[in-house]
Amino acid sequence: MNDHDNILLRMEDLHVDVGQPPHRVHALRGVSLTMKPGQRLGIIGESGSGKTMAALSILRLLPPTATTLRGAIWYRSQNLLALPEERLRAVRGKEIGVVFQNALTALNPLFPVGRQIADVYRFHEGVAADVAWDKAVATLDDMGIPDPQRRARAYPHQYSGGMAQRAMIAMALVCSPSLLIADEPTTGLDLTIQAQVLDLIHDHVVASGAALLLISHDLAVIADMCTDVVVMYAGEVLETGPLREIFAAPKSPYTKALIECFGVNVQDRRLAYIAGRVPDLRQEPVGCSFAARCPLADAICRRERPLLRQIGANHEVACHFA
Ligand SMILES: Nc1ncnc2c1ncn2[C@@H]1O[C@H](COP(=O)(O)OP(=O)(O)OP(=O)(O)O)[C@@H](O)[C@H]1O
Ligand SMILES: [Mg+2]
Repeated sequence: MNDHDNILLRMEDLHVDVGQPPHRVHALRGVSLTMKPGQRLGIIGESGSGKTMAALSILRLLPPTATTLRGAIWYRSQNLLALPEERLRAVRGKEIGVVFQNALTALNPLFPVGRQIADVYRFHEGVAADVAWDKAVATLDDMGIPDPQRRARAYPHQYSGGMAQRAMIAMALVCSPSLLIADEPTTGLDLTIQAQVLDLIHDHVVASGAALLLISHDLAVIADMCTDVVVMYAGEVLETGPLREIFAAPKSPYTKALIECFGVNVQDRRLAYIAGRVPDLRQEPVGCSFAARCPLADAICRRERPLLRQIGANHEVACHFA
């Protein structure tokens, strides 16, 4: 088996714009990443760096104001960006499950929660309604929902935030996908519930061998859940590689600043920020997008965009000085 066979997902040079001129933003500017089966990859980066846009692109769930300009997203041997909508629907929820923040707005208020999970299972597996219902109840049970038989018949508004998030995860996992995408899956839940929901996701993906693409602002969560990390800034990837290696010795000055801020933040319980502002993405930045805030920046950084280059096994960095 060559390396190519061992790739589950490969995003290649993805460019996405959002909105219309003069407000059009170059949200993703050449994002590439790869995932192997069973890999747990975290995406980190400041607010607005393009983490959500990258995740939404995979299943073509971008908002209608977004346009994909170029690039490819290979899932196994098919390019998801080129797949007819009908074939994509067969991948969504079956091969790839998604969990977003705020399950209560994602669930349909008009139908019992169990019915919504059963419908996903039925659509993909073509089983009888009662079989799908039993599967939905069993999956709610797996997600630690007490009295799942009764809870399955309840409506979303009868669920707490934490329960709704578990139900959303049940829906994402009911068909045993090979990849779970989770974008801030526990934001807004209280801390104990957050830990429980994250454990649930972690244990499930490890037990089933599914890959996980996890987005979180909380670097401690990423460190607990993931084996590898992608660092995004201003719509591009500035560093990627094994999590331990990058957290112990970040090579990009941006990654370093991000990790230092997080450390300060945890100790002080005050918000720490990297000095300076993220670039205005209505224009393409010239040179390195982090140059204006970077302590190492030199003339070349303001002139030439650094490309990702390999500096170790699976470790890549885009910096003229790394
Ligand atoms: N609905 C929208 N309309 C216009 N621009 C948008 C919209 N959503 C996002 N953007 C822009 O796209 C870029 C990437 O946003 P994205 O939501 O992917 O960032 P993010 O890394 O997920 O941030 P956060 O950590 O806050 O969730 C940003 O510049 C943002 O301003
Ligand atoms: Mg986001």
